[in-house]
Amino acid sequence: MSESFTFYIDGVPVEAAPGMTILDAAQAAGIWIPRLCWHEELEPFGGCRVCTVKMNGRSCAACTQPAEPESVVENDSVALREWRKALVELLFAEGNHFCMACEKSGSCELQALAYRLGIAAPRFEHRWQAREVDASHADVLIDRNRCILCARCVRASRDLDGKNVFGFTGRGPERRVAVNSDARLRDTDLDVSDRAVDICPVGAIIRKGVGFTVPIGARRYDGAPIGSDVESANDELESANEHTEGGAAATVRQEE
Ligand code: SF4
Ligand code: FES
Repeated sequence: MSESFTFYIDGVPVEAAPGMTILDAAQAAGIWIPRLCWHEELEPFGGCRVCTVKMNGRSCAACTQPAEPESVVENDSVALREWRKALVELLFAEGNHFCMACEKSGSCELQALAYRLGIAAPRFEHRWQAREVDASHADVLIDRNRCILCARCVRASRDLDGKNVFGFTGRGPERRVAVNSDARLRDTDLDVSDRAVDICPVGAIIRKGVGFTVPIGARRYDGAPIGSDVESANDELESANEHTEGGAAATVRQEE
C-alpha cells in the first residue's frame, strides 16, 4: 500500500498502485469509463478507443495507459462523450446490426452503450457490407454482421481456453474475425463450454438452441444502464466510508 499514489479523474482523487491502468484504477474507485474491447479477465487490447480519456491534456486509451502520480484525467466531458458517441455510431454504420432481431438485444454491450450515450440513430451512412455467417458448428454460431472486432474471443481462446480458435484476417474495412482452420468453425476444436463463446460483447458469437431464453425485463441491461454496476459500487464505497474515519481517496468527493 505504501507504493500507491493518487491521481485525479474529473477532479476526484483516485488511488492506484504502480502499473495499474487508468481504467483499472477508476474501476476500483467506482468510476465508470466507457469501454468495449476491455474485459476484466483479459489482457487489454486497446482496439476500440471507446475508453479514450485525456491525461494531462493528452488523449490516451484508459485501458492501456498506466495511471501516473498526480496526473489529471478527464473522463466525463462533453468533448469525450461526443468522441465516444461518434465511435459507437461508426460501429453501427460499419456492421449490420439489427437489434430488434438479435437474441443478444437487451444484453448487448454495444446496444447498451448506444443507449447510455443517447444515440437514437447513427448519423453516418450504413455501409451494408456483405459479411459471412458460419453456422457449421453443432453448438456455436458466428455472425460476422454483428462483429465489432474487439478481439475478446481471440484473447479468450488463446489466454483462457489455451486453443487459439479465433484470429483476424484482412485489413481495413475487410478485416474479419477468422477461425484457425481454412475451413469452418466445425473444423476447429472450439467447445461450447469455452470461455471464448460467452465473452463476445455483442451477438456475433452465440450458442445455438438457447436463443431468447431471458424474458424482456430480465435481460442484462433492462433494469439499469451499462456502467451502473461500477457506479453503484462507488455508492457502496461512499456509504461505507460514511461509517469509518478517514476513507479511501476515491471517496474524498463526499468530504469536500
Ligand atoms: S466475434 Fe465478438 S468477441 Fe470476437 S471480435 Fe467479434 S465482437 Fe469481438
Ligand atoms: S476499452 Fe480501451 S480501447 Fe477498447
